[in-house]
Amino acid sequence: MRVSRLALTDFRNYRSADVAFEPGANLLVGRNGQGKTNIVESLVWIATGSSHRVPTDVALIRAGEQRAIVRCTVTNDERSFQLDVELNAKGANRAQANGNGVRIRDLPRYLQAVLFSPEDLQLVRADPAGRRRFLDELAVMRAPRLAGVHSDLDRVLRQRNSLLKSARASRLREDELTTLEVWDGRLVELGLEVLRTRQALVADLAPHVAEAYRVVAGDEHRAEIALVTNVPADAEAFRALLAQRRRDELDRGVSLVGPHRDDLELQLNGLLARHYASHGESWSFALALRLASAQLLRDGSGGDPVMILDDVFAELDAGRRQRLAEAAGGFEQVLITAAVEDDVPEALRDHRIRIDAGVVVEAGAAARTPVERAGDPDVDPDAEAVVGVDERADAEAVDG
Ligand SMILES: Nc1ncnc2c1ncn2[C@@H]1O[C@H](COP(=O)(O)OP(=O)(O)OP(=O)(O)O)[C@@H](O)[C@H]1O
Ligand SMILES: [Mg+2]
Repeated sequence: MRVSRLALTDFRNYRSADVAFEPGANLLVGRNGQGKTNIVESLVWIATGSSHRVPTDVALIRAGEQRAIVRCTVTNDERSFQLDVELNAKGANRAQANGNGVRIRDLPRYLQAVLFSPEDLQLVRADPAGRRRFLDELAVMRAPRLAGVHSDLDRVLRQRNSLLKSARASRLREDELTTLEVWDGRLVELGLEVLRTRQALVADLAPHVAEAYRVVAGDEHRAEIALVTNVPADAEAFRALLAQRRRDELDRGVSLVGPHRDDLELQLNGLLARHYASHGESWSFALALRLASAQLLRDGSGGDPVMILDDVFAELDAGRRQRLAEAAGGFEQVLITAAVEDDVPEALRDHRIRIDAGVVVEAGAAARTPVERAGDPDVDPDAEAVVGVDERADAEAVDG
């Protein structure tokens, strides 16, 4: 699949922008802080229903405005979808697919994207929450129905925790006990579903991770992943464990058993990556997790995911750059951001889009330097395919 067009209104530092993407590689270039990541962040939002950088959506709305609009056209196997998202400072966000209202959590059905970003280092280094999110987002891309299961489980845990907290350190009243039993039933049911999904996903992903690590790092180190869980394998054992831990749960006022405490353990040559891997090895592991995800999605029915490489090349040595470029370049579409164009391997530089202070300045062949263009007798018809709306307005003003 690929994104052919993206339009932003009051999203981050964009008042208004409209950009066309080509199949294959698209390189977004511009100095630091100009809005390159903001562009890909808007696509990540559509693919996952949230930003990869901030926990709340308010920061995505242009300062001083009340709502942001993201519109994109996704083409998959000859079929096109127009996706429209409205992010509201007050009130619920809204989404449409081809003009019909859809739930935000259904958006991953239309756009699948795999983001590689500097924040991925935290996947390897930081606490388990990020790794659970990694697994669950990937699971939802493979089976969008699971978004509902995860949000139901979150709700059950919130309700259950607030009940445990209110009854904390005391005995449960009769009615509280009945309510807790209802939540326990839901926790067991949803918890087992999430557990089984994660187990199947990790089993499918593991060989891809091992292979992707070899590709990225260029060595024969053994990268392994495993799910670590405290969830028992069946409903009966789950209920028994809940009964056994009830006193502790009441003392601490939180749910102690469930997939919300799972971790995805990452090992390199048999040692826990979080504790032993070097900086470069951690980076390779993070990239391998993303590349493996992309391979897994490619094997599924949805076609190639859109590959988004945000600022990753600057962090890599020449060998890793080349190998990652080769692996990612094989996908239907790759969006790359870089402050320094030379950091990006040649093969990914064909279609350049220049970003300057929240304006898409130039795209396509026009993004070449005047010297490069001087040697080109034909004007590339794509050169004017897209300009920032601000710039188009200026051009019209001059023409008129
Ligand atoms: N809600 C917002 N309203 C207005 N401006 C914003 C908003 N959110 C972020 N910005 C601005 O967007 C800019 C950052 O954009 P972005 O992260 O896309 O930069 P970048 O081009 O990727 O830079 P780098 O090369 O450093 O990664 C900053 O100047 C920031 O102040
Ligand atoms: Mg950036």
